This record gives sequence, structure tokens and C-alpha cells, in this order.
Amino acid sequence: MPGRIPQEFIDELIDRADIIEVIGNRIQLKKAGREHKACCPFHNEKTPSFTVSPDKGFYHCFGCGAHGTALGFLMEHDHLEFVDAVEELASLYGMEVPRDQTPSAPAPPSAPLYELLGEVALFFRQCLRDHPRAIDYLKARGLDGNTAKRYLIGYAPGGWDTVLKKFGDSDELRERLLKAGLIIENEQSRSYDRFRDRVVFPIRDSRGRVVGFGGRIIDDGEPKYLNSPETPVFHKGRELYGLFEMRQALRQLERVLVVEGYMDVVALAHHGILNVVATLGTATTVDQLRRLFRTTQEVVFCFDGDRAGREAASRALQVGLAEMRDGRQLRFLFLPEGQDPDSLVQSEGAEGLHQRLSGSVALSEYLLTELKAQTDMGTVDGRARLAELARPLLSRLPEGVYRELLLDRIAAEVGLSTARLVDTLQLSNAARASVVRRPSVTGKRSGLVRHAIRLVLHYPSVATEIQTPEGLEDAEQPGLALLLELLELARDRPDINTAVLEERLRDRPEARHLTTLLGQEMLVDRDEAAAELTGSLAGIQRQVHEQRLESLIARADGLSATEKQEFLRLQQNLSAEGDMT
Ligand code: CTP
Ligand code: MN
Repeated sequence: MPGRIPQEFIDELIDRADIIEVIGNRIQLKKAGREHKACCPFHNEKTPSFTVSPDKGFYHCFGCGAHGTALGFLMEHDHLEFVDAVEELASLYGMEVPRDQTPSAPAPPSAPLYELLGEVALFFRQCLRDHPRAIDYLKARGLDGNTAKRYLIGYAPGGWDTVLKKFGDSDELRERLLKAGLIIENEQSRSYDRFRDRVVFPIRDSRGRVVGFGGRIIDDGEPKYLNSPETPVFHKGRELYGLFEMRQALRQLERVLVVEGYMDVVALAHHGILNVVATLGTATTVDQLRRLFRTTQEVVFCFDGDRAGREAASRALQVGLAEMRDGRQLRFLFLPEGQDPDSLVQSEGAEGLHQRLSGSVALSEYLLTELKAQTDMGTVDGRARLAELARPLLSRLPEGVYRELLLDRIAAEVGLSTARLVDTLQLSNAARASVVRRPSVTGKRSGLVRHAIRLVLHYPSVATEIQTPEGLEDAEQPGLALLLELLELARDRPDINTAVLEERLRDRPEARHLTTLLGQEMLVDRDEAAAELTGSLAGIQRQVHEQRLESLIARADGLSATEKQEFLRLQQNLSAEGDMT
């Protein structure tokens, strides 16, 4: 893989991109005042609620909430991955995409690596034809030629240097083999083939290029599987085995199954279940999950019923929560102990597996079961503990209908109203805002931190005109860290525009909130923005002080000398501020 694309380049690209041109090339836009309008390409509608703002550099649909920059549009509309969208946009403006780690020399091109890996995969396929033992093994595992062909399954011959001899004629070529992870160099600088006498499963990237291999030993032996190492073109945490083949086979993907093994994928495919991918012997990553959700609305994780499976599920839950936007579904299927999808489909057929799938549990269900198992629901303390346990998990959930529903469910379990639960968990600061005696009019309704974030997003340049109050860094208000970060970014780059800011935050879990915030109408003008922001920040500081004061009061008996001083100071400050109004 080439190096990272430098952030400055993405900034510049977004700056330069004409969002009207990018979107206008794909859908019919109509000018309406300073904005452009259209029927939303992301949901069905008859009257246009999709608007594009050239000033701010983003689009927003008031119907379905779709929202983003020119880059985001390319990703959503053309179903491109981030990097591909960057390449696409750059090419539109004749810009070359630079990569980090390459201060002067251009990145060593990956093309020769892809080419080599592709050729070796074909070679392994040929070898399979000449090795009845490998063919028999695959047959014994229930596969046929079609499936082997679809997944390019091959055979890496025994011996130490088959690949080395065939593809390593020069130093340069041997270097390339090493880089591609196809040969190994030992301490004495002697090289030998990595994959020997194994059935091999080529791993293809989303564009279908072979980027690595998994090799299974025939019959028994150790290690059972051997995989390509991380290479410039292969990153385990990014790729999904079977993703390319699945997308090739199916246009519409209502749901995708995530299994653990190569054999699971190919066995299910052999039985006509083609909507399946595998992680590569590691826990599912955010990257992988996002890729899947770009393709489908429903992801079902299949886990073994044993302890390892449950642990894997619990990790998947953590990763999944942050991705639970409205409309998305994440489900968990636990298989009987000792079984995997491969063995199940062999014994019960596709029908059996489908039946089991209908018994998979939704993420909310699974989360509750997990939490309940950790506490005694028969007691008041136990129920309170459930809320405590839920807190770190819930705080990962983006705002939206999904979160509301889950909160309702947990509230019902705990025996609190949803509002009380939210309050107890301090998940939202909206409720707290009313405590502040001097809130701005608009701030009162939406929460001060949120209001301030919106102001910075809409008018980044005001950040240079105002001062951030002291002492906010350590406070734990939701969203406050993000606000401070935004202020800093905007101060560093006074000319930064909203779209650039937004792209910078793309990978942050909070990014989804920003989408919502940006979609809300801005009632404050640019002229009033600085005063408004100063007011909000003062209000936030006040909240922080009040919270701190409360926590000191709660421990009144055990305060240290410095804490007592702090207490007095806070009390004085707060009453002074109160007098001013
Ligand atoms: N794996 C690995 N290295 C190992 C064992 C497993 O990389 N030594 C990865 C492989 O991607 C494998 C997956 O973990 O496909 C699941 O492992 P396991 O359940 O042990 O194997 P199966 O897929 O069930 O393979 P088989 O049915 O051939 O035994
Ligand atoms: Mn198996």
C-alpha cells in the first residue's frame, strides 16, 4: 500500500473542488438563490429536498439527512472507497495525489507487486490441476471446480524454491517476491518459498487484485494456516476475504454474513450462499465494518459458540456500536459449540443455515444479554449497576433513532424513565444547559457545546476572534474535547472552510453528530457569531465549574487543602457571575 495521503493535500483538494460541478455532473441541479437544489439521489422523492451549498462546500438532504462534501458525495454516490474518491476528485482537477513517507522520491509503485501476485495466483491454479492430492482434498471438503475457480483456489507445490525459481530470475525480481511476501529470507540470507505444499486461497482487494494468500496445509499438520505477512499492498485489518467475489456475484446485498475462515466462505458459496466474507484471522476492524456497511444495511456476524467465539463477539460489539446509524442492522449468530459455518452447511445444507440465521440476535438484544449476565437484576443495586455498565457502551453510539430506542429498552430494564436514565448517565448535556443562568437563546435548546460546535463549523474564522476560557481541557462534558479541537484547527487555518473541517474529522466517531449539526439551520449571522460563541464558551465554562463544585460538595468531608481552596474560589466565581445577570 502506498503511504498515507497527506492531510494538507485533502484540505487543498476540498478547497479546490467545485462541489456544484462534481454533483452536477451526476445529477440534475437547479439553482435556487445561493444554493442548488435537486431531488435527492439517496432516497426516493418527488419534491426536491436535496441542497448543495457552493459556499460551504457541502450537500445536505432535508428529507433523509444525507450529507457530506464533494468527497463524501463521490463515496456515497459512486460507491467509492475513500482513497479511490480522492483519486477521482484529484484527477478531475489534474492534481497528482502525493503520499507520505516520500519526502522527495516518488512512492515505489505498487503496480509490479499486484502484477506479480496475480501471476503467482495463476501459477498456483495451474499447479492445482497437476496435483490430484490437492484436488482430492478439496473434493473431500465438499468443493467443486466452479467454486475453486470463482475463488481462484490453487495449490502451492512442495519443495523450497518453486516460486523462487519461476519468478525470481534477477535480484530485482527476488526483491519483489520478498516484498510481496511470497518468499522468506532467513538469517543466512537464504531465500525460500513461503507457501509450500499447501492449498492456497488468494485474497483479493475490492478491485479484484490479488494482494495476498492464505495457505492451508493438506490434511493435518502445523500450522494449519499460513498467511501473507503485511506488505505494501496487503493489510489484514483492511481486507475482507471474499468481498470482491461477493460484489461480483450479487448486485443487491440485503445482508452480508461475516465468518471466520476461508473454508467457511467457500463452503457457503458452494451451497449458494454468496453474501459472505471472512475476516483474516483477526477481530473485525472499524475499517472492515465500514466497508461492509457501504455495501449493505445488515451485517450478521457468525461466531463459534465457544469462549473464543463469545470474546470475538464482544469485541465486534464494541466496534459495531459506533457504526450504528439509523437503518443499519448488526446481528449476531452463535453456532453450536464445535461447529463452524462450513461444517454446518455440510451437515444441514443452505436451508439449515438460513434457519439458524433467522435465530440470530440483534445487537441491542445481545448487548442487553451481555450486560444482564454481569449483574444481578433481582436487586436495585444490580439494576443500577446495569446502567453503569451500559454507560461506556452507550456513549459510543451515535445520536439517532437507534440510540433512542436502545436507551428506551435499557431504561425499561433498569426501571427508570428514559429521561432519568440519560440524566444519570450524563450522556447528553442538553438537559444540563438549563441549569446555566445565562445561556444564549439558541444555546438553551440544543445544548451549549453543540451550539458552539455548530458556530465553529459554520463560521470557522470566528475562532481567531475569540478567546477560549481556561480550564476546559480536563472537563468531561460530552463533545467538549471535539469543540476544543475544532477551535484549534480553525485557529491554525483561519481560511479553512466548513467542508475542509468536516473532512478532517471524517474518521472520528463523533463525525456523525457533526452531520446532524451541520444539517440544522443556522439562525446566527456571521456578524453575531463571535459574540455568540464567546457567550456559549462562557456558559460551558460555568457548567464545568458548577459540575466541579457539585463533585466537591459531594465529597465535602474528604477535601484536601487545595481542594478546599478550589471550592471557595469556584463558589466566589460562580456567585460573581450570577450577579452580573
Ligand atoms: N487462521 C490463521 N492461522 C491459523 C489458524 C487460523 O490465520 N493457524 C485463520 C484463517 O483465516 C482461518 C480462520 O483463522 O480461515 C479460522 O480458523 P479455524 O476455525 O481454525 O479454521 P477453519 O476456517 O475452520 O479451517 P478448516 O475448516 O480448514 O479447519
Ligand atoms: Mn472449519
